[in-house]
Amino acid sequence: MVHRLPWRIVAALAMLSVGVLLLGACSSSAPQTTISDASVNNDRIWSVYTIIWIAAAVVFVAVEALLVYTIIKFRNKPRTAHGRPVPVHGNTKLEIVWTIIPAVVLVVIAIPTLQIIAELEKRPSEADNPLEISVIAHQFFFEFRYEDQGIRTTNELHIPVNRKVDLVMTSNDVIHSLWAPRLGGKVDSIPGRNNHMWLEAKETGEFDGQCAEFCGVGHANMRFKVIVHDEAGFMAWMDEELNPTPGGDAAAGEAFFLNGPCAGCHAIDGTTAAGTVGPNLTHFASLPQIAGVVPNDEQNLRAWLANPPAVKPGTGMPNLNLTPAQIDNLVAYLQSLK
Ligand code: CUA
Repeated sequence: MVHRLPWRIVAALAMLSVGVLLLGACSSSAPQTTISDASVNNDRIWSVYTIIWIAAAVVFVAVEALLVYTIIKFRNKPRTAHGRPVPVHGNTKLEIVWTIIPAVVLVVIAIPTLQIIAELEKRPSEADNPLEISVIAHQFFFEFRYEDQGIRTTNELHIPVNRKVDLVMTSNDVIHSLWAPRLGGKVDSIPGRNNHMWLEAKETGEFDGQCAEFCGVGHANMRFKVIVHDEAGFMAWMDEELNPTPGGDAAAGEAFFLNGPCAGCHAIDGTTAAGTVGPNLTHFASLPQIAGVVPNDEQNLRAWLANPPAVKPGTGMPNLNLTPAQIDNLVAYLQSLK
């Protein structure tokens, strides 16, 4: 018997250290933590976490107390002729109790969970003055369309603070999932279907998001940003989108490349772009040809960015529906990659 004791202590210590590690991983400053109160949605989700946490704590304490009680009370019982404890068979009362208690716990957790899922999927009413945005997921980027305003963006969801955003979500190819953890909510984008989700940010700033459904080789790089503006900043952003400053801006092109769809497939050494689906573009400006088919000059680069399959049928690079301003900025940036 004596040799078993150290193993129990080792197992207990191992479980304790795993628990401490898991707790350490929950830092509210992490860029993609769900423990955040940056949105109205997360407040609701947090209320379910709280219920689950309390239920789990009660269950834990009750089970551990019963365990300790049992260990002490039954530690030395009469044994059979072979030196084994006398087995116990069946206890209807006990079996009913341990079936009913977990069922009650599950119901207590399920009711608020289902309520909040339904609430987060319900479209905001007209009274909320929501901003409607269509989300079209592609391998491997998110397209955001502000249909009423005539604005289209890629991997950048610009929204105003303290206003409900009504997202109508679909996919162009396979199933993807839109998830900005600090703003709460996660809904799949499914081809041929419109799913709904709303967001209401409580603070301005930039929030990281990520495709949360495995969708192919570029899945890990299918990232996006939610940029929450104050009211005036949002108006200024819309104005710039509708009337862009003429001429390419290499810095804006770089930011678009790194945060936009390009980095999902291409790498540029020394930057965060690390996609492996398409060619490495570290020295793009020194390459003699674009995609190995046309001379690498500004006119061809513009035509290529505007519609790659038109330049090279069958190419893996899709038409990203880039706006003229995005093309200007990308040309300025790509031509600086000597
Ligand atoms: Cu799109 Cu994973």
